[in-house]
Amino acid sequence: MATSVVYLEDIVTFVRRHYIALASVSFIGIGFTLLRKWADGGVCTSQAKLTGKTVIITGANTGIGKETALVLAERGARVILACRDILKGERAANDIIRETGNQNVVVKQLDLANLKTVRKFADDVINKESHLEILINNAGVMACPYWKTDDGFEMQFGVNHLGHFLLTNLLLDLLKKSSPSRIITVSSLAMETGQINFEDINSEKNYVPWVAYCQSKLANVLFTRELSKKLEGSGVTANSLHPGIVATELGRYMNQDHSIWKPVLMKILYFMIFKTSQQGAQTTICLALDETLTNTSGVYFSDCVPKEVPPQARDDDTAKKLWDISSEMVGL
Ligand SMILES: NC(=O)c1ccc[n+]([C@@H]2O[C@H](COP(=O)([O-])OP(=O)(O)OC[C@H]3O[C@@H](n4cnc5c(N)ncnc54)[C@H](OP(=O)(O)O)[C@@H]3O)[C@@H](O)[C@H]2O)c1
Ligand SMILES: *[C@@H]1O[C@H](CO)[C@@H](O)[C@H](O)[C@H]1NC(C)=O
Repeated sequence: MATSVVYLEDIVTFVRRHYIALASVSFIGIGFTLLRKWADGGVCTSQAKLTGKTVIITGANTGIGKETALVLAERGARVILACRDILKGERAANDIIRETGNQNVVVKQLDLANLKTVRKFADDVINKESHLEILINNAGVMACPYWKTDDGFEMQFGVNHLGHFLLTNLLLDLLKKSSPSRIITVSSLAMETGQINFEDINSEKNYVPWVAYCQSKLANVLFTRELSKKLEGSGVTANSLHPGIVATELGRYMNQDHSIWKPVLMKILYFMIFKTSQQGAQTTICLALDETLTNTSGVYFSDCVPKEVPPQARDDDTAKKLWDISSEMVGL
């Protein structure tokens, strides 16, 4: 009895002496837990199966695309991984087949920076697939050096927007024939600061990597908006999304200045606010599976729920103008 009283007194004395430090530690602990919980984001709860359905996912060999492919394969879909590097694609397909037991996972070559391969890919799909229920425009490149696609477009606008614009248009008849079907385009929060620079759409006069990325991601949302209008009543929906801030290979062209503090800072950020690829794939998966979204179209999602977009992303004139210019650029 006497000793436990002494212990208790010791504890009380300790707490009294160090309460500021103790309060700080608890405060940081709670703060971190809340921040992490917020960063983890939304989860797709739909149990829908995709047996008998066919899905195409661009850029499915890694990151968000690969995780999306894995879950849709798990739900029984035939999954076509549209990848620019066949070997990387095959490796991803093998992983997905091994993990899900679904043998119906195939790779087809598609380089969005080369419209000839986009046409070839679409021809192949149209000739060999009898139906297509879900198209996921996921592939993307961010803040790369000033590169041009094989057709002479600035790389980010060319791959993120124009390649997907052409691909989607070429597959529209098959999607319509297979309705109800869905087109899902992975945009980004970065679109919120984007503008479409019609005077210099290929950034030839002035190239700022991040600005061109924002433009391409805004184009994803405006494209989806115009597309959903054109698809009204067809049984095909078109929605776009922000996946979250996700630890993937997307940052491969950033932080190439070999400083010491940047990698350390990135590690801390990864730990605190980045989503895993599984978490980053949730909104795409939601848009692909959720039965309550069958008739939802022209909407932008984040963390599995609709999100309001800024004025430049709901400007119908810009959306129309972008559509017309894009058609011209890809030769539709
Ligand atoms: N990660 C984030 O925080 C974040 C945030 C907002 C939006 N997003 C968007 O999420 C999407 C997926 O990105 P991620 O984070 O998963 O990045 P990632 O790990 O870099 O994956 C990007 C995928 O796109 C493919 N790709 C790149 N250029 C291509 C081309 N010319 N033709 C065909 N495929 C090409 C890549 O293929 P290779 O492996 O062969 O290069 C890779 O499979 C992108 O649209 C991105 O803009 C990501
Ligand atoms: C979608 O629309 C169809 C046709 O109008 C209707 O039969 C169906 O119940 C709707 N589905 C949902 C989830 O709202």
